[in-house]
Amino acid sequence: MHCAFDAYGTLFDVAAAARQAAAEPGNERLSESWRTVAANWRIKQLSYTWLRAVTGAHADFWQVTCDSLDWAMDAAGLAGDDVLRERLLDLYWQLSAFPEVHGMLSELKRAGHAVAILSNGTPEMLRAAVDAADLTELVGALLSVEEVGVFKPNHSVYKLATAHFRCTPAEILFVSSNGWDAAAAAGFGFRSIWVNRNDEPIERLPWKPHAVVCDLTGIPQFAGSQK
Ligand code: LAC
Repeated sequence: MHCAFDAYGTLFDVAAAARQAAAEPGNERLSESWRTVAANWRIKQLSYTWLRAVTGAHADFWQVTCDSLDWAMDAAGLAGDDVLRERLLDLYWQLSAFPEVHGMLSELKRAGHAVAILSNGTPEMLRAAVDAADLTELVGALLSVEEVGVFKPNHSVYKLATAHFRCTPAEILFVSSNGWDAAAAAGFGFRSIWVNRNDEPIERLPWKPHAVVCDLTGIPQFAGSQK
């Protein structure tokens, strides 16, 4: 089966940048607040993508990532700390992959499934993240919203995957840890799996993912049974 993975939060741990920076010498001021900074950074980043999508004011994901970090640092009383800002942004280009990612993608590859990433990230961000996490040989296409100039969950983004694989939505297994992304992708017609890592409630949206899992370990079984 064709497999399309969301990137940030699904393959790559978006909290890793703040967690790692907080542990570095000189960044003690982040040690109390890194969880809040990471959470605010993420929710603002996503909010800005939605707001930009509905207003037609697209800017790329890097711009949105910088803007949302500025908000999160400001909220934590860290505005103006340019050294910390640069370090956090630098770490965003080399986020760690979740521990099961390498094994799971290797299993998909062995079983002959085609794997793509379908993400809000820019092509440069996605290439850097995949290379830094040593996944280069395991992931095929990097499909970025920059091709269509609008963020998820606009359907033109999901159409990038059907165009790439030349198939119907139902022939694609889509995997995302973002509940709203997994839901909207099911609405588009993908066979959609929600990776609910943090035991969150299901999104109250008109569409529901086909399955909910707690990590990526079982994804090859879903792909295999659909082959
Ligand atoms: C992505 C965001 C939604 O990678 O995490 O598309």
